Amino acid sequence: MIEKEFGRTGLKTTALGLGLAALGRPGYITLGHQDDLREEYQVEQMEHHAHQVLDTAWAAGVRYFDAARSYGRAEQFLASWLKKRLIDPANLVIGSKWGYTYTANWRVEAEHHEVKEHSLPVLTRQAEESRNYLGRFLNIYHIHSATIDSGVLTNESVLDELARLRSSLGWVIGLSLSGPKQGETLEKALNVKRDGEHLFQSVQATWNLLETSVEPWLEEAASAGWGVIVKEVVANGRLTPKVQQTHPEIDQAARDLGVTTDVVAIAAALSRPWGAVILSGAAQRSQLESNLAAMAWINNPRIVSLIGQVNETAEVYWQTRAALPWN
Ligand SMILES: NC(=O)c1ccc[n+]([C@@H]2O[C@H](COP(=O)([O-])OP(=O)(O)OC[C@H]3O[C@@H](n4cnc5c(N)ncnc54)[C@H](OP(=O)(O)O)[C@@H]3O)[C@@H](O)[C@H]2O)c1
Repeated sequence: MIEKEFGRTGLKTTALGLGLAALGRPGYITLGHQDDLREEYQVEQMEHHAHQVLDTAWAAGVRYFDAARSYGRAEQFLASWLKKRLIDPANLVIGSKWGYTYTANWRVEAEHHEVKEHSLPVLTRQAEESRNYLGRFLNIYHIHSATIDSGVLTNESVLDELARLRSSLGWVIGLSLSGPKQGETLEKALNVKRDGEHLFQSVQATWNLLETSVEPWLEEAASAGWGVIVKEVVANGRLTPKVQQTHPEIDQAARDLGVTTDVVAIAAALSRPWGAVILSGAAQRSQLESNLAAMAWINNPRIVSLIGQVNETAEVYWQTRAALPWN
């Protein structure tokens, strides 16, 4: 595993991280989620399954783990794993997020899986909850899917509270992005200052071979000393072997190199110089093992040449993503 500086925050991460969105609750939007969990939805079964995937990541040297208040019990599962394995907080970096409340009540068929509210009361409540579960293990706290429309980047009381959390707890403050206007939102966030310094020092954005539109802003954020985390790198399962045809050029590259399409997609992201952490969203140990194989293909010319050649337009990409069913 390659170690990385997380921007100029002083945190040290690894090139690959593990996200827990698919591991903390029964329902998610990735293509084959129901099959991944084999419908074993009891809390103890899901906790055991999450611990197995976390063990595989740890053994491979992964040292960044990503959660959110809305990922069901992801923070709890992470906390129980850290305790069981006697892990020292100095040996890994954990990021979580506030702004969505989990509302599915452990049901796959829930009408609403999460509710978004970027208000001061939600921040205060969720920061306390995250602290209760993760305590001194928590290093980075992100606004979950900040958008210009949500108004969070001009909500002075929220921004002041984030600045207070930074100075009182030492948290790195960040934001995650979603939707076709990731770049515009990040541009606005780059201008949010407290005491003459950037309030945010971490950004988590969607970048993959089908959707690269945010790249210029991610470069800017990295130059400003932020840590850049890439999410949805296999387009929620669309760039994996479970899809027969992803994109002719990606499929051909995978065939020629003798690897799977997830390896091509992840190696492309690992090759971008501005990325501090590329998240695997693996829902199973076998998926994670496959994703990890991408480490051997960083900067492969054939893979790098695909970047910018196989994009969908941001609008088409995000419409497709919005139509993915919870399963
Ligand atoms: N707004 C935000 O802040 C936000 C939004 C999304 C994600 N995230 C973060 O990013 C992480 C990753 O995102 P994501 O899981 O949504 O997207 P992703 O990483 O693009 O997709 C991961 C999914 O792809 C499938 N997959 C991966 N490797 C595979 C393989 N070798 N063979 C077959 N299927 C494979 C699995 O889904 P299936 O088996 O179910 O198809 C897996 O759950 C999350 O865990 C979370 O931490 C943050």
